[in-house]
Amino acid sequence: MSQVEVLKEVQSFTEEPKKMLINNEWVAASSGETFPVYNPATGAILAQVASGNEQDINMAVSAARKAFTGNDWHSMTPSNRGKLIWRLGDLIEQNLDELAQLESLDNGKPFSVARVADVPLAADLFRYMAGWATKIEGSTIPISTPNTAKSKHFAYTLREPVGVVGQIIPWNFPLLMAAWKLGPALATGCTIVLKPAEQTPLTALRLGELIVEAGFPAGVVNIVTGYGEAAGAPLAAHPDVDKIAFTGSTEVGKKIIDAAKGNLKKVTLELGGKSPNIIFGDANIKYATSAAANAIFFNHGQCCCAGSRLYIEKDIFEQVAEGVAARAKKIRLGAGMNQDTQMGPLVSDEQLNRVCSYLKSGLSEGAEALAGGKRHGEQGYFVEPTVLVKTKADMKVVQEEIFGPVVVAMPFDDMEEITSVANDTIYGLAAGIWTQDVSKAHRLAARIKAGTVWVNCYNVFDAAMPFGGYKQSGWGREMGEEALKLYTEVKSVCVQI
Ligand code: NAI
Ligand code: MG
Repeated sequence: MSQVEVLKEVQSFTEEPKKMLINNEWVAASSGETFPVYNPATGAILAQVASGNEQDINMAVSAARKAFTGNDWHSMTPSNRGKLIWRLGDLIEQNLDELAQLESLDNGKPFSVARVADVPLAADLFRYMAGWATKIEGSTIPISTPNTAKSKHFAYTLREPVGVVGQIIPWNFPLLMAAWKLGPALATGCTIVLKPAEQTPLTALRLGELIVEAGFPAGVVNIVTGYGEAAGAPLAAHPDVDKIAFTGSTEVGKKIIDAAKGNLKKVTLELGGKSPNIIFGDANIKYATSAAANAIFFNHGQCCCAGSRLYIEKDIFEQVAEGVAARAKKIRLGAGMNQDTQMGPLVSDEQLNRVCSYLKSGLSEGAEALAGGKRHGEQGYFVEPTVLVKTKADMKVVQEEIFGPVVVAMPFDDMEEITSVANDTIYGLAAGIWTQDVSKAHRLAARIKAGTVWVNCYNVFDAAMPFGGYKQSGWGREMGEEALKLYTEVKSVCVQI
């Protein structure tokens, strides 16, 4: 398909108010209401989308329950389940350009990035999980009850799907986060109600069309669009939902835990971060400097694992901080659909205001901007890529997640100091270490309290590698075998033979 054809397809996709997917049917919100979705590069309305509420959630949950207990899904062989999930990966790949355009218009990220990262990673995640559908196994357990002529026990475990799952996702990687959540739930045989972020529901809805096209039975995947309070909260609180999986702010993560208490549903959370990226004097400085810029500026800093605290060993501090600032100044900002854009706008005016207020707070407390420091332009939600120096450990810009293209660069003296400051945060999602000394890298990796430690690399993701947080960065893991475990219950069966 040519660019023009794809653009036409995207336009026609967003023309009519978008409906929600319940029981494989596209339905308007029960209230009849819609909400606007904006193009963050211009602030113009991109589409109207069904505004779901508790009533819609109830319908979706009951469709998911029916699908979970019904024959179509329950009796499907693991092999056929795997084939369906694989087919979904194929369909994503076949619609690569369209999905990348939708993502770019809706979220603001460059089309070129969505095309090489978000969309192929989503396809890959489904294929990885498709392979697991046939490999979810229990074990036989040699228990120590008496073994006599009359009595002996045979014990084994079954791994069963946890049931109906609610999944609430954010706007920073809209399609990819849907894939991270749906993939393991489908592989294990759960059924799902997915609530995309109100800022960016469009690729999840297009994914819904592909899910129907792939041939998933009705009710296996339901997608309810709407605001967090109106649609997310009743999903988290629903008494017939067996598990809730959430990605977003730590603040809302805590609300999810409260909401889940009623029926003690299982909870997994992937929350905020303030990840340290640590460069030692013996690193490959040129490479580490450019990677440090990518670690914060990728996706405009809207990554839960962004390398937002850059710690640089004292003797190379100026060289590296200035190197990152020089790169920041060169980044070309623009609409995601412009071919030469390297960084798009933030996702919403809310995020623009949030990030600008952090900038003001840091600068007013004495931090200095080596690059950037303010909003870019008047139209759209653009922020200048920013490098702050001369910060103090207790400043908000050092302690709190900014979720924008803002890095604080700080010098450190030695291994002892860096271990303690790296861990001086309520978060524990990721960390980066740059050194050519292998022993130093392994020793520090072991001491950092974070779910992922990248050594001489950053932001490397793979469907097979678990991702998630220590401390207030969350509960549980996504991707890899670890994610699957969290979508299953283990049943011990003990038989007297
Ligand atoms: P948020 O946590 O409010 O939104 C994430 C998802 O939760 C959305 O789908 C939203 O509709 C839903 N939600 C909101 N309130 C809810 C509630 N009471 N019950 C159930 N669901 C609810 O995040 P927001 O406001 O978009 O961004 C605020 C900050 O959160 C960002 O500045 C960033 O620091 C952090 N964040 C972290 C993300 C991550 O990947 N860990 C992703 C997005 C935001
Ligand atoms: Mg919020």
